[in-house]
Amino acid sequence: MTHTTTAPAPFTAADYRARMARAARSAAKAGLSGLLVAPGPDLVYLTGYQPVTTERLTLLVLAEDRDPVLVVPTLEAPDAAHAAGAPALSLRDWTDAKDPYAVASALLPGKGRFGVSDNAWAMHLLGLQRQLPALSYVALTEALPMLRAVKDPAEIARLEAAGAAADEAYGEILKVRFSGRKETEIAAELAELLLRFGHSQVDFTVVGSGPNGANPHHEAGDRTIVEGDMVVLDFGGLKHGYGSDTTRTVHVGEPSTEEQHVHNVVLAAQQAGYDAVRPGAACQDVDRAARKVIDAAGYGEYFIHRTGHGIGVTTHEPPYMIEGEERELVPGMCFSVEPGIYLPGRFGVRIEDIVTVTESGGRRLNNTPREMAIVE
Ligand code: GLY
Ligand code: MN
Repeated sequence: MTHTTTAPAPFTAADYRARMARAARSAAKAGLSGLLVAPGPDLVYLTGYQPVTTERLTLLVLAEDRDPVLVVPTLEAPDAAHAAGAPALSLRDWTDAKDPYAVASALLPGKGRFGVSDNAWAMHLLGLQRQLPALSYVALTEALPMLRAVKDPAEIARLEAAGAAADEAYGEILKVRFSGRKETEIAAELAELLLRFGHSQVDFTVVGSGPNGANPHHEAGDRTIVEGDMVVLDFGGLKHGYGSDTTRTVHVGEPSTEEQHVHNVVLAAQQAGYDAVRPGAACQDVDRAARKVIDAAGYGEYFIHRTGHGIGVTTHEPPYMIEGEERELVPGMCFSVEPGIYLPGRFGVRIEDIVTVTESGGRRLNNTPREMAIVE
C-alpha cells in the first residue's frame, strides 16, 4: 500500500468567504437573524481559525445583511489575523479591561433568534443574554444540521487521505504481536501509526479485547490480551484537518464457530448498510438495512447504537444513520457505516468504514479487508 505525503492545497480566503456566505444564507432561510460561532469545529470550517477555547470571548457574528465580524481578545488578534479566512472578515478586538459581551452585543440587533455553535461555553452565551435579554438562541446543529454535512471535492480528498492513512495503520498493526500484551500497548502503537501516516491528531484508539469488546467505546486498559480473544480495534483522528474513523475486529488465533458466525453476521450487516447508500435514500434506510441483517440473525438486542455518523472536521457530526432520521442522502455526504454486535461479558464485533455518497451509490474511504484477520 502506498500513501501520499503531499499536503493538499490549503483552503483559501475565497473558500471561507463562500462558506460564510452560504451559512448566513442558510440561517436567514431558516428564519434566523444570524449565527454566533464560538471556537471549535464550526469556526474552523467557516474561517480556518482555531484558537484555544478560553474564558476570553472569541465569537464570529454571521448575518446575511452584514459582513462577517470576528470578535477577538486583543492579545489573540495577531493570530486571528493570520487565519486563512481572515481576509474574508473583519476583526473587532477587545482589551481585557472591556466587557466583551458589550462589544459583541453592539454588533447584534436588540431582538431576534440566533443559531449558536453547539460547543459555545455557557458563560459566553449567558454573558450575551445579560446584554441582550430579548434575543433567543438555538443550537446550530438543531437549526442547520446540514451546514457541514455535504463535502466538496477538496474535503472528500482530505477524508480519503485520512482513510487511506488509517488503512495503512491497520495493515501495520496486524503485524504486531497481540497475545501477552496489554490493550494500552496496542493502543499506543495504533496512535503512533496514525501519526506516522500523517495524522496531526489522534482522537481515539479503542482496543476492546475479549469481554471488553462488548463495550463499544471501551477505553484501552490494563487487560492482557490472550490467545482466543476477539479484539475490536476502532481508531481515528485528523489528517490535514479532516477525520478518519475505522473499525476492524481481529482474533488472536483461531476463532470459535460462534465467534466466526457473529463476525459473519456483522460483515453482512455492514455490506447491507453500505449497499443502501445512494442519493435520495433516507439516512434511516442505511440503519434499517444493517439492522435487518442483525435482527434476522437473532442478535438485534445486541446492536446497541446507531449505524453511523457523519465525519469531517470532527469525527462525529451530522448526518446520523439512525431510525427516525428521514433526511435524504446527498452526493458529497460522508459518514460511517459501523454495525456491531456486543455480547456482554463475552466479546464484541464491529466493522466500520467511512463511506461517501456519489451519484451512483456509496464509495468506501476505507478499503482494508473486512474479514476477520487472525493475529498472533
Ligand atoms: N461508534 C458508534 C457510535 O458512536 O455511534
Ligand atoms: Mn465511528
